[in-house]
Amino acid sequence: MSAGDKITSVLVESRVFPPPPAFAAQARVGSLAAYEALCARAAAEPERFWAEIASELAWSQPWREVLDWELPDARWFVGARTNVSVNCLDRHLDGPRRNKAALLFEGEPGDTRVLTYHQLHREVCKAANALDALGIRAGDFVAIYLPMIPEAVIAMLACARLGAPHTVVFGGFSAEALADRIKDSRARLVITADGGWRRGQIVPLKDNVDKALDDPEVDVDHVVVVRRAGGESSWKPGRDHWWHETVDRASPRHQAVGHDAEHPLFSLYTSGTTGKPKGILHTTGGYQVGAYYTTRMVFDLRDDDVFWCTADVGWVTGHSYVVYGPLMNGATVVMYEGAPNQPGPDRFWDICARWGVTVFYTAPTAIRAFMRWGDEHPARHDLSALRLLGSVGEPINPEAWMWYRRVIGGDRCPIVDTWWQTETGSIMISPLPGATPTKPGSATRPLPGIAADVVRRDGTPCGPNEGGFLVIRRPWPSMLRTIWGDHERFTRTYFGDIPGCYFAGDGARKDADGYIWVMGRVDDVINVAGHRLSTMEVESALVSHPKVAEAAVVGRPDELKGQAIVAFVTPKGGIQPDDALAAELRQHVVEQIGALARPEELRFADALPKTRSGKIMRRLLREVASGSTARGDTTTLEDNAVLERLAASYQQED
Ligand code: WT7
Repeated sequence: MSAGDKITSVLVESRVFPPPPAFAAQARVGSLAAYEALCARAAAEPERFWAEIASELAWSQPWREVLDWELPDARWFVGARTNVSVNCLDRHLDGPRRNKAALLFEGEPGDTRVLTYHQLHREVCKAANALDALGIRAGDFVAIYLPMIPEAVIAMLACARLGAPHTVVFGGFSAEALADRIKDSRARLVITADGGWRRGQIVPLKDNVDKALDDPEVDVDHVVVVRRAGGESSWKPGRDHWWHETVDRASPRHQAVGHDAEHPLFSLYTSGTTGKPKGILHTTGGYQVGAYYTTRMVFDLRDDDVFWCTADVGWVTGHSYVVYGPLMNGATVVMYEGAPNQPGPDRFWDICARWGVTVFYTAPTAIRAFMRWGDEHPARHDLSALRLLGSVGEPINPEAWMWYRRVIGGDRCPIVDTWWQTETGSIMISPLPGATPTKPGSATRPLPGIAADVVRRDGTPCGPNEGGFLVIRRPWPSMLRTIWGDHERFTRTYFGDIPGCYFAGDGARKDADGYIWVMGRVDDVINVAGHRLSTMEVESALVSHPKVAEAAVVGRPDELKGQAIVAFVTPKGGIQPDDALAAELRQHVVEQIGALARPEELRFADALPKTRSGKIMRRLLREVASGSTARGDTTTLEDNAVLERLAASYQQED
């Protein structure tokens, strides 16, 4: 960033955009005073507040207690029974939503499919019956490794219906990463496709499943395969079943039963600060309340909205805002399989225009790519149906925010910048579009009921604009309940740093108006194009290569992706560091984790900067990687020459 850029960001940051009066007039929460009154009520009587929201959903048995909380363990809606799939589907079948479109699907090649609530319900019932026939019972984990096609939604809802927790693995993850997740969750059944479309190519999902299942520690009985790509795939009779045979043959009638409110609904793997991804566990009752409430409040959904959240169901955003939140609200959801620039850079705007999208939710990295591709692409399409825009995944820079508002939103649509995490299950900090004046770059204020704050290490609140830790002081219904198989890690990771608070890694400041500005992670987690990765995970992948002695990985700022991965590698003695080895190592990371983790740059170093106790000094490497000379304190560095050599090699090669 040049000095000039910095000045513009200061200027745009100081602008405030009140909700457009026409939007506020019809919004659920239409003024700042109404928002503040809700916050006050929720703070005064939190349990009553959440119980009222929960009462809008169907429960087959009521709760005895709204919340049972003893740090760090919270149980919500204790004793209640409910079925998330019923709340997403059956609940809408008796009224005018029965024949309303639930899913508007478009494949990358241009094929389309529309499923009404009635039709989606039938498909989910068939899938639930088929899974039941394959022996899946409540409590059995099912791994889902699918492209963004209707079967992904159907499979998730079928699992929820049966009380079989799903663990969705993003299709961009490699066979190794898939195997790790299957092993950790102990899934006995995998739902996949013969392939999915991405940039005109077929992603070989079934081949990856076959490879993952070759791992002797993976114990999977059945693989259900959706025919999507239509090519050849290898087949293991008895183990592999076509979806179109197994599911289509099943009965479309399925009587759902309620599951305990604290019954696991899904686990989703995300990166922490170690080499091993964590299985974030969400449960039935609390998660459904969080996803339902936040979708309703933040996107202010109405029955005539067409809602498009561009996230993949492999991420939590896809769980909460492609599937569960919008369907519980009876919304019409757009689902698109492919890349935003296939066949051309206007694909998203073409989709918005053709399907009449009214609420659009995407990530800053995508917005920055659209900015770079040029205003002429959205300009070619009629985007006048849009009424609200959202952003999620990383801090949005004010320039991108302003572009989004002007070029996509026609200066007319409010923008909701939503802060949350896989762990929080649903949105925590966001404007309410009819109530909260927005400031470009700030996620603004916590939702009513969410006790988010910025504090010092001892838990005391920071003063205005003082940088601190972003925490949540009280439990909320959709919070994670544990890290699957490692409750001790859960307690230590989220409740071990700041006394009495949930803290999951973000730094922030709160301005004089109480607006929160998220400043990014303070731990070794990096955010590459909205995808969360741990530097250690990439390091473990690198050191698993026989030619690598040691590796250190850091993020450096990247204009498009937010952060890019830079790896410093020390090869084993006698190994020649050259371009061929660099290419081999980058490919090795792709095989171990997936293309999303491929280092943008790989630098060889004869040694890494370390403290006397042997800890790699990532801070110094970050400075080297971002091109600045290491200015920070280097007094604890064991060998100063290491850093000088690294910085010198870096500048030469650039
Ligand atoms: C991390 C969580 C939440 C769904 C997508 C990512 C960053 C997320 C924002 C935002 C600033 C944000 C944080 C957070 N983040 N949204 N609006 N402003 N930062 O979920 O993979 O669990 O990552 O994403 O650093 O901790 P995730």
